[in-house]
Amino acid sequence: MELKIAVLPGDGIGPEISTQGVLVLDAIAHRFNHKFIFKSGLIGASAIDTVGDPFPEDTLRLCLESDAILFSAVGDPRYDNNPSSPVRPEQGLLKMRKSLELYANIRPINTYKSLVERSPLKEEVIEGVDFVCVRELTGGMYFGEKFESEDKAYDTNVYSRSEIERILRVAYGYAMKRKKHLTVVDKANVLASSRLWRKVAQNMEKEYPEVKTDYMFVDNASMRIVQDPKFFDVLVTENTFGDILTDEASVITGSMGLLPSASTGDKTPLFEPVHGSWPEAAGKNIANPIAQILSAAMLLEHFGLIQEGKVVRDAVQASIENSICTPDIQKKNGNIYTTDEVGEWITDYCLHSN
Ligand code: IPM
Ligand code: MN
Repeated sequence: MELKIAVLPGDGIGPEISTQGVLVLDAIAHRFNHKFIFKSGLIGASAIDTVGDPFPEDTLRLCLESDAILFSAVGDPRYDNNPSSPVRPEQGLLKMRKSLELYANIRPINTYKSLVERSPLKEEVIEGVDFVCVRELTGGMYFGEKFESEDKAYDTNVYSRSEIERILRVAYGYAMKRKKHLTVVDKANVLASSRLWRKVAQNMEKEYPEVKTDYMFVDNASMRIVQDPKFFDVLVTENTFGDILTDEASVITGSMGLLPSASTGDKTPLFEPVHGSWPEAAGKNIANPIAQILSAAMLLEHFGLIQEGKVVRDAVQASIENSICTPDIQKKNGNIYTTDEVGEWITDYCLHSN
């Protein structure tokens, strides 16, 4: 298969983990006789510094001309501590999501047996956790009307029926392929937007009689995620709730550095780690490249390259079992490996495993 892949490393640890993601994809291309053509583009603070725009036209064009996007992270403390800055790196990511209509963000949460000791939760609570968060990504407060003055500010949480319907379809699609259990998370006891979500879901539920659909308020869901994460199979929710719940869910596994995601819509799909740019670690060669590498696996699987994706997942699993780990997931007294070393070990496994 030939695939044009836009590579957007972004900021902080982004470039370091991006390199490892590309190495792994290259290894897969080599082993399975595919042709992956990589072209990189600017995004985030590095794009502001170079061309004054966090998502330049050139990057948009590159994305539209590509079959897939391998994205890493954006964010820079120079902007975090300056709320009055007229331009921010995160705007680049939001502009990309909106202009490519990447409305469905898929964030799978699984635990690794050998990493249970890294989790803040008890072993019996987390062992065997396996669920998928489907986060709506181009609506809600992130994109609704905003107002900001010295004494007053607001964000509007707008959702249309069609926006809710299309994300629920994606969620039901996952539920049908999995354990046929969908949890719709909202705040319908307080928010009008959530009441529309619930109405639309209650209607659609009838089309999927095999799926057990249940409804949960977001405050309750946030509790359930740490108390009984095995309850969930597929969880679907709006943009802001999804942002918060997926950070919460990500720590179940022991490290945010493990979690990949896919953002899909009607245009070029994007694959990115759930974690951010971790500026304090930039250039130190300590960031965990696994979330990026598993995002590459999701990219392969998106194009039906299932066996290829499995090789990458097996390689990641093997690296963890052999304790080839960055500090965030290394066991007590274990050797610490760098970002490059972990990436190279996984790449090598992808090239040579049976
Ligand atoms: C995420 C991130 C982004 C978001 C930021 C960087 C804008 O936290 O992908 O979860 O809030 O969506
Ligand atoms: Mn987030």
